[in-house]
Amino acid sequence: MEIVRSIREMQEYTKKWRANNLSIAFVPTMGALHDGHLELMRVAKKTADVCIVSVFVNPLQFGPNEDFARYPRPIEKDIELCKTVGVDGVFLPEVHEIYSENFSTTVNVGVITEKFEGASRTSHFQGVTTIVAKLLLATNPDWMMMGQKDYQQVLVIKKMVSDLNFPVNVVMVPTKRDDDGLALSSRNKYLSDSERKTALQIRKALLVGKQLIDNGSKTSKSIEDAMQSVLQSVEGIRIDYCSVANAKTLEKKNELESKESVVLLIAAFVGTTRLIDNEVVDVH
Ligand code: PAF
Repeated sequence: MEIVRSIREMQEYTKKWRANNLSIAFVPTMGALHDGHLELMRVAKKTADVCIVSVFVNPLQFGPNEDFARYPRPIEKDIELCKTVGVDGVFLPEVHEIYSENFSTTVNVGVITEKFEGASRTSHFQGVTTIVAKLLLATNPDWMMMGQKDYQQVLVIKKMVSDLNFPVNVVMVPTKRDDDGLALSSRNKYLSDSERKTALQIRKALLVGKQLIDNGSKTSKSIEDAMQSVLQSVEGIRIDYCSVANAKTLEKKNELESKESVVLLIAAFVGTTRLIDNEVVDVH
């Protein structure tokens, strides 16, 4: 497995792989790898000849009061985990390799970045789209695998890829969960035992919302109210948003339409840890 630290070297590797007619799948990560990331890598391995993983904690996507400094960075363990699934190359740049001192170019995707995560975390998506654009230019993949847990992020990246004509297929891979239903996330490491139990309400709320829609409920407010009651039935959760939206556009409507695909989206603080999760539901 190659460990690559510079953009130029990464581009040389991809050039060589492409010259040998090998297809490339790419998994962007911020490290602190868990089985959700490994699942993306397994899908990447099945899809293409070569699998590249990037590990880069991107300062541009963290707000001033967010957890950039304390974000976990178990890099040796991450490298070992990549080896276990047969990754071919790990791209491991330092911050100064990606952002030179006078770096001043960013990528902004309109509309779909304005709500939910974008409303709560100003300039977060600008940081994500800028780094993903740079990573795509460094790795030049045929496919890029991203996890459904960050549902809006995947839609934002798909929009960027389509608007800027990046020659890559973005694949959304279903969320990996612990046995109790908690979506795997590097931020779960911040949770105490009791907070972890509290966090399970998020999944429960999503399943209550899904059940209502499956049973024929079509009024967004009643679905959102039901999900909120589940979240608020325990101490220690602060809701950021808890919404039903169209699964493609993230637009919100008062009444869901038959045959529409919707997504239930929750972001909530459990203690000081902000967690997100979602569930896609087809309306009958
Ligand atoms: O989902 C993440 O871990 C990050 O947002 C990503 C896509 C690796 C960009 O830094």
